[in-house]
Amino acid sequence: MKKAFLLGRGISNSLSPAIQNAAFRKLRINAAYELEDLNRRSFASFFSSLSISDTIGFNVTSPFKEEIMSYLTAIDPRSKSIGAVNTVKIIDNQIGGMMGFNTDYDGIFAALRRLGCLRESAKQKSAVVLGAGGASRASIYVLLNNGYSNLTILNRTVSKARVLSKRFESLFPKSEIEIAPLTEAKFAKSIENCGLIINTISKSNSRYFPLKKLDLSRIASKTAVFDLGYKEESTFLKTARRSGLKTIDGLLMLVTQAAKSFEIWTGRKAPFDLMMATAKSVLQHSV
Ligand SMILES: NC(=O)c1ccc[n+]([C@@H]2O[C@H](COP(=O)([O-])OP(=O)(O)OC[C@H]3O[C@@H](n4cnc5c(N)ncnc54)[C@H](OP(=O)(O)O)[C@@H]3O)[C@@H](O)[C@H]2O)c1
Repeated sequence: MKKAFLLGRGISNSLSPAIQNAAFRKLRINAAYELEDLNRRSFASFFSSLSISDTIGFNVTSPFKEEIMSYLTAIDPRSKSIGAVNTVKIIDNQIGGMMGFNTDYDGIFAALRRLGCLRESAKQKSAVVLGAGGASRASIYVLLNNGYSNLTILNRTVSKARVLSKRFESLFPKSEIEIAPLTEAKFAKSIENCGLIINTISKSNSRYFPLKKLDLSRIASKTAVFDLGYKEESTFLKTARRSGLKTIDGLLMLVTQAAKSFEIWTGRKAPFDLMMATAKSVLQHSV
């Protein structure tokens, strides 16, 4: 039996094993998807003990989406531009080659299309991205690659937002990317003229989330809000929904990125509806 893995830290509640194993079973692929909960040191040693010939590939999540790139023999051009990889395919068992992809891109694209944010009229306005981690990188790239040119990145650690603004302004010279700390005042100012807010902050329901009083009163009524979380509706998304804004959580993104990873590993069409039903069922039984 071949193996596929999710490499990350604090991933014990991940839905990915259920989603991927349901797909393997449905297509009668003799493979099992397993979790590898790693820290920085065990991440490095994972590769020395990996049996390449027994592995189909793996997913990579926080905090390793950037670090993984130095272990790969090839990276597809889109993922190289994003600067983060969440899917690795074993490409050549003889030499042990590994190729990296970013299927978060496909997931984010699907969510934005569902929200209607990829229509020409929507792109005239600016977009605000909360966070500057791996998922933020992919979100910013999807936006710029699909016609948005005016972005604001708000992040707790401003230096990380600066790294992203420099990177993406040089990749997309017509773009204008503002950065600011993630404070209530900066948030209120930056949403005034925006048409889309993407929240990529992890654990935004925690008491450490800096936007306590979410003032959406100055936001345009057609603004759309995408929150990448999917386990429980974040206070952020709930407030946006109750304010009458168009909203979407991260479930469609999660299943789309998983389906794309499956297709990269197996070369077969992923059973998307089954994967979505499995994700919904696991979520339902975990509350
Ligand atoms: N739906 C999906 O398919 C999908 C896919 C990928 C990711 N996600 C979700 O997206 C989120 C981000 O993932 P990631 O890979 O980008 O993670 P990451 O690289 O670790 O980035 C985490 C981001 O959250 C910020 N943050 C964390 N704790 C914070 C706090 N207490 N206050 C303020 N900011 C805080 C970090 O700010 P600093 O830079 O200041 O540390 C950083 O911007 C996670 O919740 C993940 O589950 C969902």
